[in-house]
Amino acid sequence: MTSDAALTEAETFYLNDYTPFGFEVDSVELTFRLAPSATRVLSKIRFTPKPGATDLRFFLHGEKLKLISAKIDGTDATPDLTAEGLTCEVPETSFLWEAEVEIDPAGNTALEGLYMSGGMYCTQCEAEGFRKITYYPDRPDVMSIFTVRIEGDEEVLLSNGNPVSQSQGLAEWHDPWPKPAYLFALVAGDLVNHPDTFTTQSGKEVELNIWVRPGDEDKCAFGMEALKKSMTWDEEAYGREYDLDIFNIVAVDDFNMGAMENKGLNIFNSSCVLASPETSTDANFERIEAIIAHEYFHNWTGNRITCRDWFQLCLKEGLTVFRDAQFTSDMRSASVKRISDVIDLRARQFPEDQGPLSHPVRPEEFQEINNFYTATIYEKGAEIIGMLKRLVGDAAYRKAVDLYFDRHDGQACTIEDWLQVFEDSTGRDLAQFKRWYSQAGTPRLKVAESYEDGSYTLTFEQSTAATPGQPQKDPRVIPIALGLLNGNGDEVQPTTVLEMTEAKQSFTFDGLASKPVPSILREFSAPVILERATSSAERTFLLAHDSDLFNRWEAGNTLAREARIDMVLEGAAPDAAYLEALQKLVRDDSLDPAFRALVLQPPSQSDIAQTLYERGVTPDPQKIYDAAETLAQTLAQQLADSLPRLYAETTVEGAYSPDAASAGKRALNARVLTLLTRLDGGEQAARQYASADNMTQQYAALSWLLQAENGAAQSHAFFEQWRGDRLVMDKWFALQVALATPEKAAAVAKDLTRHELFTLKNPNRFRAVMGALAGNHAGFHHASGAGYQLLADNLIVLDSLNPQTTARMCTAFQTWKRYDADRQALIKMQLQRIKSTTGLSRDTNEMVSRILDA
Ligand code: PHE
Ligand code: ZN
Repeated sequence: MTSDAALTEAETFYLNDYTPFGFEVDSVELTFRLAPSATRVLSKIRFTPKPGATDLRFFLHGEKLKLISAKIDGTDATPDLTAEGLTCEVPETSFLWEAEVEIDPAGNTALEGLYMSGGMYCTQCEAEGFRKITYYPDRPDVMSIFTVRIEGDEEVLLSNGNPVSQSQGLAEWHDPWPKPAYLFALVAGDLVNHPDTFTTQSGKEVELNIWVRPGDEDKCAFGMEALKKSMTWDEEAYGREYDLDIFNIVAVDDFNMGAMENKGLNIFNSSCVLASPETSTDANFERIEAIIAHEYFHNWTGNRITCRDWFQLCLKEGLTVFRDAQFTSDMRSASVKRISDVIDLRARQFPEDQGPLSHPVRPEEFQEINNFYTATIYEKGAEIIGMLKRLVGDAAYRKAVDLYFDRHDGQACTIEDWLQVFEDSTGRDLAQFKRWYSQAGTPRLKVAESYEDGSYTLTFEQSTAATPGQPQKDPRVIPIALGLLNGNGDEVQPTTVLEMTEAKQSFTFDGLASKPVPSILREFSAPVILERATSSAERTFLLAHDSDLFNRWEAGNTLAREARIDMVLEGAAPDAAYLEALQKLVRDDSLDPAFRALVLQPPSQSDIAQTLYERGVTPDPQKIYDAAETLAQTLAQQLADSLPRLYAETTVEGAYSPDAASAGKRALNARVLTLLTRLDGGEQAARQYASADNMTQQYAALSWLLQAENGAAQSHAFFEQWRGDRLVMDKWFALQVALATPEKAAAVAKDLTRHELFTLKNPNRFRAVMGALAGNHAGFHHASGAGYQLLADNLIVLDSLNPQTTARMCTAFQTWKRYDADRQALIKMQLQRIKSTTGLSRDTNEMVSRILDA
């Protein structure tokens, strides 16, 4: 296959250039004659010119298609072909377009359009993959009704909607709901299913299936339960019912992303749906539940109401991430979910928002839309919905969303439409709030306080640094959830939401008996960086007393971060007050073990680097690594007496169950084991490894053994036990790189790329090794530059096969301006080397150029 770069000079698309398509697409009929390297796709599409349309040029997208024939109303047509599509003379009234094209699924390593994975056919059309299947107006605002006929020898032939007929070698599907082409899907393979049924709130029976390759059928039960829970939850929480007779999920091994919400036929990366106690960790189970929910929830937020254009991507993604987070909070612990989400936001979105790739939640320009499936669009997009809900209140939020569904069902919408339903149903003016969508960058919030005669005043000052293309920023609306505690730890002001709208603004609380301790930004009520000089005594106090669990964790997290920073910058000893508070908390049985595990989880080394950078200090990865090691060692020694008992108390007995309570206990148990391993050299971990009957415990034991450089035997045994299981092998590849010491990380990763089971063609395997390398902070940023070079070498090769996954992995370099001149020079050299590769894809070229432009 040729690379994308051959097709186009980097063209930029602008939000302001939006023009509607000049034709209505009344109906689409597709026939697929499947053959691995020569599949024929026949299309019959009825177009009707729109009265009053401004753009009546008939342009159909199409890439890498071999056009066999084209007809208009039965007569041969002579379209003009380019690398991006075709134009054609067409009648002024309704007409039937018929085309036959040939495509090569077996040669499609980009995993976009129709491709093959492990012998089965599958599709990925979001965002612009349908144009690799046939000629079509491949834009989300063109919605139509699809009928699909599949001719193939495979036992299972699936597409969107409801089945019309099935016989040997032939299946026909009809989707009654108008949809954009990006939601089209087709699957054909010798698959087996895990079936079930669901009765909707109005009494409609829906057939449910999870389709997998033979051998995986015992890994579907958990996903199916998650699906049924999601269906019930969306009825109860949002009044949304499922709308087809059948809902199919398919697991595929080769997939660029996590999963895809195609109408009635969700396609999943097998790592995001297959689960069993023996092969999946607690974290896997939780993630699978969340992703199944996410894709299912898209049926209303994404499919029934879709996006007008790709600039509006956050309309469906931000909202759907918010909905899946609500679901997880309801299924598990709300504060544990919130803390985990904030850890993730700070790890992925904050660096993005403060680096060269910073972009608004609704971008106004792009070259390659695949590069905008980012933490900003998804996670910050979800944060905006959370702030909106907090500002208007729960009841008003529900009313506004109901209005959104009522008013826009069947439409392709914009952020303006979304905000309008809130304005109309609450009477609020959201003009200033809208800046969250248009302004990039993470606001910093400075806090000052004063107390006099029972009157306490907090003064906040907000500012946002310049981001690419946006030198000036205006003040945003920031909801600040706040509580006040007195010196005994009693709450004297329960949580209230301060609505900050000015650049600088004060809020006063009267009638207080003494100077209170403020608990600011409870539940992390806005995605901002809080800057407040506070004593470690006050943080320790909040860690012990705050009624808001998020802020309790935050106090501990800040203490840990400050302790590490003092160690890095001043060679200080670990903060004793912090260690003492931590010990108390870890032993406090009244607290949820999952919460205690999170408090015990140290801030990542990249988090420390990012914080130093935010404070104008150049981080030294090796020093950050050393401080992390010292702090963990000190903590282990301080807790030495209680570790064996804690380990015993948190060991979950009996048959494995992935429920939140057991998983939380195991999470705490794993944190205790990692400390214990620092003292006993791995004795307990080796015992746990030997007796583990589930992956969570096996994986934790192996991790800590590898970290102690004492796990060679277990690693070998693990490989022999699991070499036949792709998903477990991904863990094995990743762990070795993730836990290698800074000096060894690049060499370990390099050796693994030569392993017989390594392949660039499977994105999960590629990410296992290269993602783990990029995630090993001190290893990736080792002064030798070996990590940078290895990643660049692999990106260059992968780009010719799979531009999308290559471009995403380039984000490993986005933080390069954090580091010293030597490291910057080493990274720059690699970025330039990638950029100068002949035939580089549009995807990777855009990413590398933006990163270099910093
Ligand atoms: N729309 C998918 C989701 O978030 C993500 C995705 C994007 C998958 C592009 C594939 C390709 O649920
Ligand atoms: Zn999504």
